[in-house]
Amino acid sequence: MADNDNDNNKRGSSSIGDDDDLESLEAKNKRTKLLVSSTSTSTSTTTNKCTRTQRFIEDQQLLASQSIPTHTTPYTMYTPKIVCDSSRLKILITGGAGFVGSHLVDKLMQVGHEIIVLDNFFTGQKKNIEHWTHHPNFTVIRHDITEPILLEVDQIYHLACPASPPHYQYNPVKTIKTSTMGTLNMLGLAKRVKARILLASTSEIYGDPNIHPQPESYWGNVNTLGPRSCYDEGKRVAETMMYAYKEQNNVEVRIARIFNTFGPRMHPNDGRVVSNFIIQALQNKDITIYGDGNQTRSFQYVNDLVEGLVKLMNSDYDGPVNIGNPDEYSIKNFAEQIKEMTSSQSKIIYLPKVADDPTQRNPDITTAKAKLNWSPQWHVKAGLAKAVEYFQAVLDMAGDDGIKPTGPEASKPKA
Ligand SMILES: NC(=O)c1ccc[n+]([C@@H]2O[C@H](COP(=O)([O-])OP(=O)(O)OC[C@H]3O[C@@H](n4cnc5c(N)ncnc54)[C@H](O)[C@@H]3O)[C@@H](O)[C@H]2O)c1
Repeated sequence: MADNDNDNNKRGSSSIGDDDDLESLEAKNKRTKLLVSSTSTSTSTTTNKCTRTQRFIEDQQLLASQSIPTHTTPYTMYTPKIVCDSSRLKILITGGAGFVGSHLVDKLMQVGHEIIVLDNFFTGQKKNIEHWTHHPNFTVIRHDITEPILLEVDQIYHLACPASPPHYQYNPVKTIKTSTMGTLNMLGLAKRVKARILLASTSEIYGDPNIHPQPESYWGNVNTLGPRSCYDEGKRVAETMMYAYKEQNNVEVRIARIFNTFGPRMHPNDGRVVSNFIIQALQNKDITIYGDGNQTRSFQYVNDLVEGLVKLMNSDYDGPVNIGNPDEYSIKNFAEQIKEMTSSQSKIIYLPKVADDPTQRNPDITTAKAKLNWSPQWHVKAGLAKAVEYFQAVLDMAGDDGIKPTGPEASKPKA
């Protein structure tokens, strides 16, 4: 179904090795303020084609990863022609305007695929994908996945679902509908057009685990009635639906069980540990820990996750796969690290524990290593440095008190 007629790279982008085009594109990049600090290295006339192409891609990746809020005509991204026309795919990303989805868009656009984003912008933000708006390979459709839609695609990355507790608890009924009706709609589409579909499932399906670390074979320990159940149980039944469609209709399915992920473009009001701690530290306000801080989490940088998702989608393995970084931190230790990294004057304070908060979370990634040859490449500290840089820029734009981190309680997301 790849569209051979698409002229992706005729308008403004170049094929690898087209040095003149690369030169002018690099010049254009340099005009962009965002790149001022990063493209200062001079281009030697003797630079070989490979290095120049690599640098061009790195510049584009940097631009994409910054994607700081803009209010003017967005910068138009260009893509080098990495895949040949016959291997270019039409790829649907539900939830593509969200934190993880937008990084996946960047990765797949940079390879040269055609991307369609479906998003209702409940927690997603247009500015996350704004830099692709004018690219001929890119389409965004404002659509709620609880309603059916007809599209012709080769692969579906199904990410649409609010992911942070305050967001998914804001309207639990809608969260359940998104995971159930939304997933049914996407599976129906996958069946109709014979597309492979990958579900962004979650470590939350393990609930408050009594096995540590958690392998995929563990069935979980989830409270069906608790405040997190709309999300946890929604994802569990979404996994069941994937397998039902595989068994009954031969739909090609992939299931990624994603563990805590962080990085630029997290919503500043998503109430997650990483965004809250960084914003509080940068504002020199109290860093709030819910509970005694001895609960553990494992944090992976978003680039590792995206790499894992793409590898899983294109692998032959159709069992569930944990994708996360096994580096485990107590929440208290994590808060201290962020405080130190930001040279913050904040005090760390302890508030009452949140209902059903898991005490331990750590992925067993044996399957990902064996089946996908995947393991995290980003050290948490390196990722945190990127996230701090991003939130600093967001705070600079919003004003020092412009952002108030959300607590664990359900609350209306702020723009
Ligand atoms: N970020 C993590 O740490 C993490 C961990 C485990 C699983 N996941 C899963 O990964 C996926 C992406 O998470 P994220 O962190 O990017 O969250 P996010 O909230 O930033 O992104 C979710 C996106 O889905 C969209 N969306 C929500 N409901 C929708 C609907 N009914 N119709 C259309 N679009 C809808 C939102 O507007 C948003 O753009 C989610 O499915 C989440 O469950 C994320």
